[in-house]
Amino acid sequence: RGAAAETADLAGRRVVISAGGTREPLDPVRYLGNHSSGKQGYALARTAQARGAEVTLVAANTALPDPAGVRVERVGSAEELRAAMRREAAGADVLVMAAAVADFRPAHTVGQKIKKRDGVEPDPIALVRNADILAELSAERRPGQLVVGFAAETENVLAGGRAKLARKGCDLLVVNEVGGGLAFGTDENEAVILDADGGETPVPLGPKEALADRLWDAVLRRSPTR
Ligand code: CTP
Ligand code: CA
Repeated sequence: RGAAAETADLAGRRVVISAGGTREPLDPVRYLGNHSSGKQGYALARTAQARGAEVTLVAANTALPDPAGVRVERVGSAEELRAAMRREAAGADVLVMAAAVADFRPAHTVGQKIKKRDGVEPDPIALVRNADILAELSAERRPGQLVVGFAAETENVLAGGRAKLARKGCDLLVVNEVGGGLAFGTDENEAVILDADGGETPVPLGPKEALADRLWDAVLRRSPTR
């Protein structure tokens, strides 16, 4: 990492980062989920801690070691993630939604394991919308509090990202293009950091730590003092 990691330029800042992917239960043993590994969120937690921040990581279904010096809170579903983030938001200077949140959940969760029956077709799974946690955190943020989102787009990356930033009402949005060689679970990422003031910072393909450090730089540019 660069010289920035040696300076405690995030000292005194309380940052809360969500990581991983939510699981929406169908029955006691099954869920709807996604392939998010949580690696980018954990890289954000490690780098912020190294730069002196007080870090809370809200981890949704990750299988990664707890970063040293970071408080880790585990959640499962989008609703649990939402409750944890809203609770943590009260004392936070920076909120980062790096988790992949399910847009939909099953309309009904049953208490017993779903059984198959010979000659009977399965019921379709009805879905309902989950709350948009990033938009909610942005709408409810205190003066001086920064809210950061992530977005993976397969086309029109910059225009789509700009529209998404406006829709969510957040301060910064990290947009990366997916669908090519880059996939979930890798150790590298390439992205553009969009600032609500119109700024645009491209980050070349590199370790997720490097992207994380560039994001903390962008946070400090937008909020130089606390
Ligand atoms: N997000 C969230 N709550 C949701 C869905 C998404 O907080 N219910 C957050 C993600 O954590 C991410 C950002 O919103 O930081 C963008 O997620 P993305 O899936 O790209 O955006 P959506 O608004 O869900 O749009 P799309 O229809 O393209 O999936
Ligand atoms: Ca989505």
